[in-house]
Amino acid sequence: MADDQQTAEPVEEKPFKPSSPSSKLNFDGFWEYNDAPQSTDSIEIKDQYDLFIGGEFVAPEKDRYFDSVNPTTEEPLTSFAEATQQDVDKAVKAARKAFTKSWSTLEAKERGKYIFRLARLIQERAREFAILESMDGGKPIRESRDVDVPLAAAHFFYYAGWADKLDYAFPGKKAEPLGVAGQIIPWNFPLLMLAWKIAPALATGNTVVLKPAETTSLTALKFAELCRDAGLPEGVVNIVTGAGQTGSAIVNHDGVDKIAFTGSTEVGKIIKKSLAGTDKRYTLELGGKGPNIIFEDAPVDQAVEGIINAIFFNQGHVCCAGSRLFVQEGIADKVVQKLRDRMETLIVGDPLDKNTDIGAINSEQQYNKINEYLELGVSEGADMYQASCELPEKGYFCRPTLFTNVGQSNRIVQEEIFGPVLTIQTFRTAQEGIDKANNTPYGLAGGVWTDKGSKIFNVSGKIRNGVVWANTYNQFDPTSPFGGYKESGEGREGGLQGLYPYVKLK
Ligand code: NAI
Ligand code: MG
Repeated sequence: MADDQQTAEPVEEKPFKPSSPSSKLNFDGFWEYNDAPQSTDSIEIKDQYDLFIGGEFVAPEKDRYFDSVNPTTEEPLTSFAEATQQDVDKAVKAARKAFTKSWSTLEAKERGKYIFRLARLIQERAREFAILESMDGGKPIRESRDVDVPLAAAHFFYYAGWADKLDYAFPGKKAEPLGVAGQIIPWNFPLLMLAWKIAPALATGNTVVLKPAETTSLTALKFAELCRDAGLPEGVVNIVTGAGQTGSAIVNHDGVDKIAFTGSTEVGKIIKKSLAGTDKRYTLELGGKGPNIIFEDAPVDQAVEGIINAIFFNQGHVCCAGSRLFVQEGIADKVVQKLRDRMETLIVGDPLDKNTDIGAINSEQQYNKINEYLELGVSEGADMYQASCELPEKGYFCRPTLFTNVGQSNRIVQEEIFGPVLTIQTFRTAQEGIDKANNTPYGLAGGVWTDKGSKIFNVSGKIRNGVVWANTYNQFDPTSPFGGYKESGEGREGGLQGLYPYVKLK
């Protein structure tokens, strides 16, 4: 061993340099990824989708449809029905009828069986759901295949299990369903957000009118087909498509007992105002500006992977994204350099390529919003660094971006960008890190990286966030509750806590 060390040639440490600034890697000619496109041959997408009301697909009253664009090609993928107030009214009535006639009177264990069946059907058609999610919304197939769809199935499995065990969830109390739940979801995790909403509602005996986001309604309509295939009693799940006006018609409908909303803080505030003075229950899961705090004693390479995951996962279209990085001063330069090196290796491009790390921005509107924030960051005086990858000629693609030299008052530090954009600040003491992390109107999720368990407990207890991950980021499980403080919303989804918003306790 000692001899080896003496004779070994000194290894020259070369800084990592990709040989070509393209989305394909080439480590000095050693290896290179080939294209690995996911086949879409077996995928059927209709030209037009109707509303799903009372167990059938029905045309909208006004016969109006709107295009849904594939953000990778910028071409229309299909079109969805625009539900008006009358359509929403029909859906709410169908849900009410199903609530009184079948669902609320069904034995709990039978309800559970239907929910299990939905979970199994999602698993059986997992690949199809993943591909549709990537085509309609732009997220990399690796994520829709490995994260969105399996987690959606897991939520149905988990809540199926609770259906006949509510007496154990609420010992000494009787849990009764509320009635009709109006549910409005965003475009960042379309099928997963549907699962978060529908699974606990059905498990507790409620019926549902759900509106997917206007840019990503496809998997919700495929899910409607599953409801039909599962033989779910008609009207238990109704899917209405449309934009803000359709959502507003659900929120303001007298026949709705509970509103569950995930989306922007701006719309969350509008909904809260509309519901003031009514007896409708609500949960709001809104925006975020998650702090990710890295201490000097953290395992740096692991933390760098975690930072990358926290902000570039799903193009940064994540309400709990770790979009504000706080690094302890002593390791700041090292962390920034390692982040830049790692960013160079990220593959930005076709969401249907299995090697892609960062797919397409969900819509032109969101793409423009992110670019406005990039300009704003530069005009505020921050230093911007972007990975040097080439972007596809077509489609809404954005380079992973870092901003250094920013302060607490910069708008890019304070406002939710919802894109692959990270701001980096430093701190000296734990208290300074905590103060900076809490200096935001949001309080959804964050991360702490340190070798020391006591520091984890100290810091995570003082960050005003619904979720704090330690030495990891973006871990989800149906058994753990999720939700925010401050302008990040009210109420919890997931876990036992996720049953509360759907029951009256007697
Ligand atoms: P949004 O809040 O407008 O849309 C979310 C859902 O609410 C969609 O289904 C939409 O049709 C519906 N909606 C819109 N206006 C409504 C109203 N008045 N009443 C009832 N429902 C309504 O979000 P948008 O405009 O698509 O994105 C804007 C920004 O919001 C993003 O850039 C991002 O910063 C943030 N956002 C946050 C999300 C989160 O999970 N926290 C999810 C989506 C967006
Ligand atoms: Mg909007």
